[in-house]
Amino acid sequence: MIPKDTVDAILQATVIEEVVGEFVQLKKSGTSMRGMSPFTNEKTPSFYVVPGKGIFKDFSSGKGGSAITFLMEHEKLSYPEALRWLARKYGIEIEERKLTPEELEEQTERESLSNLSAWAQKWFSEQLHETGEGKSVGLGYLRSRGFTDETIEGFAIGYCPERPWGEEGALAQAARQAGYKDKWLLASGLCKEREDGSLYDFYRGRVIFPIRDVTGRFIGFGGRTLKTDKKVPKYVNSPESPLYDKSRALYGIHLARNAVVREDRAILVEGYTDVMAMRQAGVEHVVASSGTALTALQVRLLRRFSKRMTMLFDGDPAGLRAAIRGVDIVLAEGVDVKVAVLPDGEDPDTFAKRLGRDALIEWLNEHSRDFIRFKIDLLDAEAADDPIKRTELVRSVIQSISHVPDELKRTVYIQESAGRLGMQADDLLAELARQARGRMEQEAKAPLPVLQPEITGPVGRPNLVGRVGRKGREQDLLRLLLQYGRQKLTLDLPDDVVEEAAESQEETPQIEVTLAEFLLHELDTLGLSIRHPVVDQVVQTYRDQMMEGHIPGPETWSTAGPEVAAITADVLVTEFSLSDNWLNRHNIVPETEDKLLMQALQGALYRLMLDEARWDGARIMRRLEELAEDPSTSEDPMAEERDLLKRKITVSERVSRLASHFGSTILHTLSDEDASGKRH
Ligand code: GTP
Ligand code: MN
Repeated sequence: MIPKDTVDAILQATVIEEVVGEFVQLKKSGTSMRGMSPFTNEKTPSFYVVPGKGIFKDFSSGKGGSAITFLMEHEKLSYPEALRWLARKYGIEIEERKLTPEELEEQTERESLSNLSAWAQKWFSEQLHETGEGKSVGLGYLRSRGFTDETIEGFAIGYCPERPWGEEGALAQAARQAGYKDKWLLASGLCKEREDGSLYDFYRGRVIFPIRDVTGRFIGFGGRTLKTDKKVPKYVNSPESPLYDKSRALYGIHLARNAVVREDRAILVEGYTDVMAMRQAGVEHVVASSGTALTALQVRLLRRFSKRMTMLFDGDPAGLRAAIRGVDIVLAEGVDVKVAVLPDGEDPDTFAKRLGRDALIEWLNEHSRDFIRFKIDLLDAEAADDPIKRTELVRSVIQSISHVPDELKRTVYIQESAGRLGMQADDLLAELARQARGRMEQEAKAPLPVLQPEITGPVGRPNLVGRVGRKGREQDLLRLLLQYGRQKLTLDLPDDVVEEAAESQEETPQIEVTLAEFLLHELDTLGLSIRHPVVDQVVQTYRDQMMEGHIPGPETWSTAGPEVAAITADVLVTEFSLSDNWLNRHNIVPETEDKLLMQALQGALYRLMLDEARWDGARIMRRLEELAEDPSTSEDPMAEERDLLKRKITVSERVSRLASHFGSTILHTLSDEDASGKRH
């Protein structure tokens, strides 16, 4: 429980632009401040903070509220967690009352574990700095390894004293005295129970490396033994608990996050002490995956701060194998990844201490390789002239590439690898398609049906208009969305906006949007709905994920059920480039890539709209015919006929408005099918 007075003090101390400013770059704009929405991946700033009022408003996601709301939304904190976050930021001490057993019971498991971890960290730290054993054994060790007081403080390092075996653990004793229940001491992994029911300390005689979440909360501990006995594990770590989810934890993220944003890159190392040593050397954008192999969730957490990553590995074979596995996980999250391999016998810790900041950065710049080059270099030597090994090499490179969610990037990688491997890009593309389909089938646990080619025959009787071509048109849109959703388009702004900007002397505004944003926006403003339920489901999912700042990749679809997997696999696998089939089929003559995509998109939207209008028109005509044959189907045949004719005119007008909305460039790209569909 946080006392009411403390809550008031926290709220008074809170300065919203400082809080938001930790996550969003804000620029002054009149009486408010403006930046890019952290909730969507917009390209023009529509996120506002109004310092005078203590509120923020994000026009692209619709979210808004106080600094607390912001923390709850952005950091996914609960209300009390947000208060604690602010208290820490503004140095306000939260006087936790000594907890009664009843109160302890009431708290959620997570909060209990969180309180205990915070308390234990403080206690470990006191042991390190204020006890004889801590100072001589713990501090002595850390200093002998060259860690400064500042680093030791910064990482909140601690020490857990030894007690003769059979005695109650030192931490166990202190924690019980402070009112913490055995249940939590055991659940947190801080203590273990003997057969006689007494508790001993799991970390006894170890230096403590507290693990913190992105907001700085203590969620777990790593403990390093100072013994050289090979039978004692070098490190022990907290077990999984509702508080400590290993797959999401990144050692050092709390300290590194601002530097990661600033450098627009995160460096990933393996060990706790590696992170510490690098930071001490002045390289601050460093984190470690703390004991476990790198997970997708960890990459997603990092991606919030930067989409670029360098993985730093030891040069031994084990390190390299880990590198190869880790890289694919990073690629699958749409993160650009480079790999740097340390010289033999070095780890980041020794290396950082030896080189110092400038030499280390220079070395990283020189030795970071793109993952493809890394993988090819690594396997090339092994494969040499062995054709079987060469095939494996190609497969393995393509497998990495198949994890890249962005289609254009994939194509670039394919081209590069073709050059390096001395192969044709087409052959690599074929292998890529084969693997992608195989993986989707594996994940969908069923062979994917091969979709029938869409029917593009002449427009038939009115009641068939639309239906036949509709699915094909919707799939064309889907294809653009899935293959080119990330591609950036530059849009011309309306004249009045340009003039206004000229007056206020801002730079001439040019909006850069992704094709996905533009496409979804156009669907909305044109009031177009997708009729095919599976296509609609995919578009909705895409929209939802985009609002969360994530552009979905193939893995999203392959796991979404067989129907979605089938339709998306077909769209993703059958065509890899705009420049072949798709363009030929629609007679599109490309000028620049940007224009080409824009034309393709507008053409697809136009066809869909036209289709919708024709479908409406056909319905009206059918009703008119019906009415002429049997007027008794209407209560007032004359009035209904008048009404239908009026609507028919509106529909025709809609078609011509459409033509002007999309501009004349579209018209000549229309296929004959569409031209002949116009009614006279
Ligand atoms: P120092 O030897 O003190 O430099 O530690 P380090 O951080 O460099 O450790 P190392 O490179 O040997 O291992 C990297 C990471 O793997 C460590 O930071 C731990 O998270 C983890 N790790 C190492 N040894 C063990 C172990 O015995 N058990 C467990 N669970 N994790 C370990
Ligand atoms: Mn080490």
